Amino acid sequence: MKKLFAIIAVVAMVLGLTACAPKETGPKTIKVGIAIYKFDDTFMTNYRNEMKAYFETKNSDTVKYEVEVTDGKNDQVAQTEQIDNFIAQDYDVLIINLVDLTAASTIIAKVKAANIPTVFINRQPSDADMATWDKITYVGAKAEDSGTYQGEIIVDLWEATDSKVDKNGDDKLQYVMLMGQAIHQDAALRTEYSIKAVEAAGIVVDKLFEDRGEWDRVKGQEKMATAITQFGDAIEVVFANNDDMALGAIEALVAAGMTDVPVVGVDATAPALDAIKNGTLKGTVLNDSDGQAHTSVDSAIKLLNGEAVDVLQWVPYVKVTPENYEDFIK
Ligand code: BGC
Ligand code: CA
Repeated sequence: MKKLFAIIAVVAMVLGLTACAPKETGPKTIKVGIAIYKFDDTFMTNYRNEMKAYFETKNSDTVKYEVEVTDGKNDQVAQTEQIDNFIAQDYDVLIINLVDLTAASTIIAKVKAANIPTVFINRQPSDADMATWDKITYVGAKAEDSGTYQGEIIVDLWEATDSKVDKNGDDKLQYVMLMGQAIHQDAALRTEYSIKAVEAAGIVVDKLFEDRGEWDRVKGQEKMATAITQFGDAIEVVFANNDDMALGAIEALVAAGMTDVPVVGVDATAPALDAIKNGTLKGTVLNDSDGQAHTSVDSAIKLLNGEAVDVLQWVPYVKVTPENYEDFIK
């Protein structure tokens, strides 16, 4: 009996203590889940590092952002599982760089059901998908513009007084196009708008070779080597949908002794700016990963706070040439 009373007394004391325990102080923790399509991507690596760094600057006495970043390894099944885990663990907000845009509707249905505001980045879900919930937004850059700028860089080289671009003097531009992944809006739009800008300047184009380097430097080098085997000196210019493929193409051109062929890329990554400095890359277009990272993080915080954000948010591209490349070196 005595023992029982003792136990009851202890239990009562513990309960009492917990009830009276002072309210926890310190910052409120916000769990942020970031799903990247794959870590092995130069542009997205800069982007995710900047998001992490920028979230750090948002920590205060009242809030602490706990950021978890996952590698989708270019596999939508794996990425969907990572997103399911974020949802199961009650994350407060998500930032998603989809692997496969056709998964957008499924993913949006999941975050909506769990009421977790979500920022999509870099790979744009369709307008129809984006219209299905008001706590989602897309942050990106207008791919048309990056293509147009690439085309304009080539037009300027073609029109220069000492231009040697038209090697065979037939008044047509013989070109190679190295494209990014098929599911990505940037690949299709850069391919289309770069050529449109050349044609808009009254230049007749002659496509020699077009293939996918999938955004990858090694694949860009391989595809370019194939183009060189097939067309050799007939190649007058190379458009690459991004800098990694442009740098791969330059490797292939250097190996073939064809360093006179102008190459243009997109992104303005550090190695691309180096290549402009040493003259192997004729131009690129800033795909502002820092600016996009900041807009994404700011949007995530606004959505968390119940503030409205636009459905589509655009960060501008900037043309980068030997004249201004130094402005973009960090
Ligand atoms: C960038 C590429 C990158 C791709 C990833 C594009 O906007 O220009 O460099 O590989 O996004 O999705
Ligand atoms: Ca020609």
